[in-house]
Amino acid sequence: MIRRLPLVLLACLLLASCGHNDVDTHKGQPATKRKLIFKEILRSFEPMGLVMRGRNPYDQAEFLQYASKLQTLSTQPWQYFGPDSNYSPTRAKPDVWDKPVEFKQAQQKFIDAAAKLNATAKTGDFDAIHRDFAAVEDSCKSCHQQFRGIPH
Ligand code: HEC
Repeated sequence: MIRRLPLVLLACLLLASCGHNDVDTHKGQPATKRKLIFKEILRSFEPMGLVMRGRNPYDQAEFLQYASKLQTLSTQPWQYFGPDSNYSPTRAKPDVWDKPVEFKQAQQKFIDAAAKLNATAKTGDFDAIHRDFAAVEDSCKSCHQQFRGIPH
């Protein structure tokens, strides 16, 4: 078993993907859990983006479902950024843990924007929806700019 280790390491270097397919062995699997929620967030966010860019037709009921789901999800990833949750292959930058006040503010900005979009989606006011969707998009982007980087 020990003899085979160098070969495994070599394979890792060649594939440059080690860690990515590994099972998350950390207690409670916080990085895996938050990533799954972000993926779900994207699954609600993206279809709305397609409507906003005119790629798909606007359907009030359908749009509202996505907006409502996004609001529900908006509060969920943050509990999985605890003190022991900074490990490979996370893309979270050290600022997440070094600047907790700013990180919290960025979360709140997104949570508020998602709530506003959900409220507006109920009215069907397309211009207002455009405006409020742009605010959500901005809140994702600005947080990612400061707190998400390349995998390490
Ligand atoms: C308050 C900060 C913050 C906000 C707001 C935020 N994100 Fe993120 N997001 C992160 C961080 C940090 C990561 C990296 C998580 C990790 O790799 O451990 C991430 C990761 C992701 C990922 C990758 C998940 C994976 O599988 O690795 C997606 C997709 C994503 N975010 C989409 C979004 C979308 C869409 C929005 C807005 C609708 C959003 N995020 C809002 C901080 C944020």
